[in-house]
Amino acid sequence: MNKYPQVLFKNRRPGETVLLPEYEKNGGYQSLRAALQMSPAEVCELVKGSGLRGRGGAGFPTGIKWSFFPAEQPGDKYLVCNGDEMEPGTYKDRQLLLADPHQLVEGMAIAAYALQTPIGYIFLRYAYEDCSQRVERAIEEATTAGYLGENILGSGSDVELHVHRSAGRYILGEETSLLNGLEGRRPNPRSKPPFPAQRGLFGRPTNVNNVETLANVPHILTNGAAWFHSLALNPESAGTKLFGLSGHLNRTECFELPLGITLREVVEDFGGGVRGGKKFKACLPGGASTPYLTAEHLDLMMDFDPLEAVGSRIGTAGVTVFDENTCMVAVTRNLNQFFARESCGWCTPCRDGLATISWLLDLIENGQATEDHLAMLHDQVRNIKGRSFCALAEGAMGPVEALLRLFEDEIKDHIKQGGCPFS
Ligand SMILES: Cc1cc2nc3c(=O)[nH]c(=O)nc-3n(C[C@H](O)[C@H](O)[C@H](O)COP(=O)(O)O)c2cc1C
Ligand code: SF4
Repeated sequence: MNKYPQVLFKNRRPGETVLLPEYEKNGGYQSLRAALQMSPAEVCELVKGSGLRGRGGAGFPTGIKWSFFPAEQPGDKYLVCNGDEMEPGTYKDRQLLLADPHQLVEGMAIAAYALQTPIGYIFLRYAYEDCSQRVERAIEEATTAGYLGENILGSGSDVELHVHRSAGRYILGEETSLLNGLEGRRPNPRSKPPFPAQRGLFGRPTNVNNVETLANVPHILTNGAAWFHSLALNPESAGTKLFGLSGHLNRTECFELPLGITLREVVEDFGGGVRGGKKFKACLPGGASTPYLTAEHLDLMMDFDPLEAVGSRIGTAGVTVFDENTCMVAVTRNLNQFFARESCGWCTPCRDGLATISWLLDLIENGQATEDHLAMLHDQVRNIKGRSFCALAEGAMGPVEALLRLFEDEIKDHIKQGGCPFS
């Protein structure tokens, strides 16, 4: 039983989708009505005051991002919802899209009013076809009911939403690659600045937010900023977070939990503890690009700032747990193979560097490495960090750096023994 307030999962029944009548019965679209009684700037201020931070990985404060947006600028402007979700270990947006798509549609309608962006796109990959269909159905229902379309609820504002099915690569989640993909171009990242708010989709101002970020917006409108702050256990933070658990746990499900909950509570109370009664060795706290935490971090608050203070990140809060028998070299090699494969090839440090790191981790894992190879691994990390064109390579360095920092002895054991001590 989850004793914590359920906000985003309030309507959720796994395996089912909430349709419009039920969504309305549970208070749905009242937040949109309330927003339309306010000015767009007042809606932005409320979201700013709530302390909502982006749930797509970087944690940028949503209201601040909205306040930079040139809402008053005439001409085309766009709202984009990022539902690419291809980071290994991350499956939380999928839960929202499948269970309660109207929550996202309402959040987007409010955001579109606040930012004065009459056209919105929901960017999903082809593997999420089931999500695309449910969101399309919700858009149809909302349009028929007057929540979307021209002159929504008689307010004088227009909002139309479209689902875009992408070919599906990890780099498409990076917001400027996503915009290239949406335009039908090759999805290399763009230079920043100009930021999407200045020159985004088709060269026009564009606001990009994650699915979970936008799904929080209706609740903030209804309940207010102080309520949103009160949801977090960390007094410095605000809101709940969807934690998608995976790995060596007894229970691998997605839970809505308060920000600031300890890692121990996530692992033991919600994950049901480590499988087979084994000891907790390490975890990725927020997806494949976040530096490992170890047993010494079990009493740490799972939240943006506390995790950054120990050199990690909450990322997407996709928590993957590894038991005491796991080889961290093998785990890191596996993650790095993913990043090397997904590199778009645009810049040399990432294109060649990730492939070299894969080669080095292969040598170590297979017992063919020397101390010189370990030194090369350190060099490669230094060559990539801060030198790549986008954050893909920087993120890929998260687990590799953490391997070197926390598990260098394990690497040396591979070298000394001429093989993997765990096999
Ligand atoms: C390689 C890479 C992949 C990303 N994938 C996603 C993704 O799948 N979903 C997402 O919302 N943000 C993703 N991001 C972050 C986005 O670029 C962007 O920061 C985010 O969509 C902004 O929304 P938010 O402020 O609501 O978090 C990714 C970033 C990088 C560098
Ligand atoms: S860091 Fe990697 S993914 Fe990003 S632009 Fe360079 S090659 Fe492409």
